[in-house]
Amino acid sequence: TPLHGFLAALPKCEHHLHLEGTLEPELLFQLAAKNNITLPASKDAAFASIASLKDRYQRFQNLDDFLGYYYIAMSALLDAGDFEALAYAYFAKAASQNVRHAEVFFDPQAHTERGVAFATVVAGFKRAQARATADFGITTELIMCLLKHLPLAEAMSTFAQARDGGYFKDGTLAAIGMDSSELPFPPPMWRDLYDAAAAAGIRRTVHAGEEGPASYMTQALDILNAQRIDHGIRAFLDGDEALVARLAREGTLLTACPLSNIKLQCISSMKEFPLRKMLDAGVRFSINSDDPAYFGGYILENYCALQETFGLSVREWEGIAKGAVQGSWCADERKAEIL
Ligand code: ADE
Ligand code: ZN
Repeated sequence: TPLHGFLAALPKCEHHLHLEGTLEPELLFQLAAKNNITLPASKDAAFASIASLKDRYQRFQNLDDFLGYYYIAMSALLDAGDFEALAYAYFAKAASQNVRHAEVFFDPQAHTERGVAFATVVAGFKRAQARATADFGITTELIMCLLKHLPLAEAMSTFAQARDGGYFKDGTLAAIGMDSSELPFPPPMWRDLYDAAAAAGIRRTVHAGEEGPASYMTQALDILNAQRIDHGIRAFLDGDEALVARLAREGTLLTACPLSNIKLQCISSMKEFPLRKMLDAGVRFSINSDDPAYFGGYILENYCALQETFGLSVREWEGIAKGAVQGSWCADERKAEIL
């Protein structure tokens, strides 16, 4: 890619990255062997080998097809050291691509449901965060995502456990989000969770407008009072001009993930990614990798794939990277250091 060196050197921030989505097939097979976990190869031949799994990752039909693999693979994560190894590998990779600050998601319910304690997951991630900052100077924050395919009551109790355990007050967790299957679970279902987070002074983001319509994004703003929207491309794909104008006016950050959108067939090619519309409308956004072990690229590959298709200028890229720094939830002093 022309500008590859420039894009690599740009100081970047990542805001949409699922730590469980960084589980590369190599590490998955290694952890499964260590932990005596049998991947369901008798039900799905894709689990037979690293090569067949990687091949299957090339052909996701949609979000739910991907999520099936994502939840099975993460069942190989058991002890704190597993979570530490997972997160540290991502932080090292991100730092190598000049990510200076990353706000990363994890899915506690996907682990507590199978008997792994919340404290175990978080302890492993915290060790990785401390080591990565010491080793690479990267700063990181954890965003706890609740799962939309589980009942509201379970999201509420996981949230209450974290809140009452002091995980937000002591800075271990920076915010809440929601992820997993989108279409059957529209934002109004989660009003009580987002009200409780707002009442506790906790920051709030939510996946919306990935597979679901632009109206889910409007609901995320109106009903959930979300301060950030993860994905959000449907505002542009659906041509919802009122919503686009509102996003620009209110400065809401969209955490966009172009390679993810292609791999999950939300768009059929990079040409359909609404980058020009996002820029022209003056909507704040960042470019992110989502689940890089599944979608064929980390943040730099996302920047480069956009550049191959859209051929932006150096100034436009500088504006995008700067907007990502400014849209971060880190302290102003940290933003100033990165800029
Ligand atoms: N969980 C992990 N990646 C996700 C995505 N792109 N959308 C919804 N849930 C997810
Ligand atoms: Zn995501």
